[in-house]
Amino acid sequence: MTRILVVNSAATGETSVSKTLIKGFIETVRANDPAASVVTRDVGHEPLPHLTAASLAGVRGQPSTDAERAARATSDALIAELRAADLIVIGAPMYNFGIASTLKAWFDHVLRAGETFRYTAAGPEGLLTGKRAIVVETRGGLYSEGPAAVMDAQEPHLRTLLGFVGITDITFVRAERLGMGPEAGAAAINAANDALKAFIAA
Ligand SMILES: Cc1cc2nc3c(=O)[nH]c(=O)nc-3n(C[C@H](O)[C@H](O)[C@H](O)COP(=O)(O)O)c2cc1C
Repeated sequence: MTRILVVNSAATGETSVSKTLIKGFIETVRANDPAASVVTRDVGHEPLPHLTAASLAGVRGQPSTDAERAARATSDALIAELRAADLIVIGAPMYNFGIASTLKAWFDHVLRAGETFRYTAAGPEGLLTGKRAIVVETRGGLYSEGPAAVMDAQEPHLRTLLGFVGITDITFVRAERLGMGPEAGAAAINAANDALKAFIAA
């Protein structure tokens, strides 16, 4: 049985391309593996609080106030979901060349020393090994090649964040050029759907 954690971060509601692609992906997974379990965190719909001076010690220190204890409880819950999953499916729209701030807030809660990574004499070490991730990246423009490739602050960041906690088996599925006319958009969505089906079939 596959245990899947879906983290959606689109702010566009049900019209979101990344959410729609992931919905189809999960339907196909379930058709092939009816026992698959799926936990969904939609941080675009229900955003997590940002870490602030009042709450930070809950994640990067020892909690001693109510706000810090609340941040610790949120971090504990998110890490438990992540730890329990074998496959992490992330819906990542490109916002201003990077990831959505709501998705960044999720990472800010799950990158926690002693829990998901640790510092060693040889440098930091990710503790969540043995997991796979699939990241659905939606973009209005084209960044996988061409002149805008240097502006892609999304995919390298996601690779770093996931790798930092030990998740290095990552498949990126990109739906690009969504804002470059209906034909380009439809072709991108079809190609992304095909890539998601190929992932399941592999
Ligand atoms: C706030 C905001 C910022 C965006 N910034 C970019 C950008 O920097 N580059 C780009 O190619 N598309 C950008 N887009 C377009 C989205 O990436 C595109 O619409 C994508 O489909 C959104 O994903 P979704 O359909 O899953 O919501 C932006 C969209 C929004 C709402």
